[in-house]
Amino acid sequence: MVKTIRFTLNDKPVSLDIDEERTLLWVLRTDLGLTGTKYGCGEGACGACTVLVDGEALPSCQITVGFVAGRHVTTIEGIGAEGKLHPIQQAFVRHDALQCGFCTPGMILKAHSLLASNPSPTREEIIEALDDHLCRCGAHVRILAAVHTAAEMLKGGKS
Ligand code: FES
Ligand code: FES
Repeated sequence: MVKTIRFTLNDKPVSLDIDEERTLLWVLRTDLGLTGTKYGCGEGACGACTVLVDGEALPSCQITVGFVAGRHVTTIEGIGAEGKLHPIQQAFVRHDALQCGFCTPGMILKAHSLLASNPSPTREEIIEALDDHLCRCGAHVRILAAVHTAAEMLKGGKS
């Protein structure tokens, strides 16, 4: 059913007259032009489409646009700023923690959610948090190192 759905997207208000059952992933990519959110499996099994909803990392292929009404949604475009990467992004660059980059937005947003709730995760906790995020390029070891470095940077007040 078409309804007016309002939510906050990357700190800006959004209002859409839209079928509330449409998948958030495709609304972000096709209606709102935010193609940093990637389509991988479409089944909630790869993490490529991860966004933050009220700070929680969720697969946008598994939730509807109606679900985010009244909530705050953050995509990779809302992390960092023009000419000023977020510390997690800086850490990924420092560790060369990507190859094709397809999994990277989801990895970064999941790391963002993890570090907000656990600023000093162990290696095992980082592995567990990223367990449902696939990287076909095999950058996992460098990704773990990047998340660890990002935690240190954030604790050191770098932003
Ligand atoms: S595309 Fe959503 S989890 Fe894979
Ligand atoms: S960098 Fe290519 S899928 Fe992870």
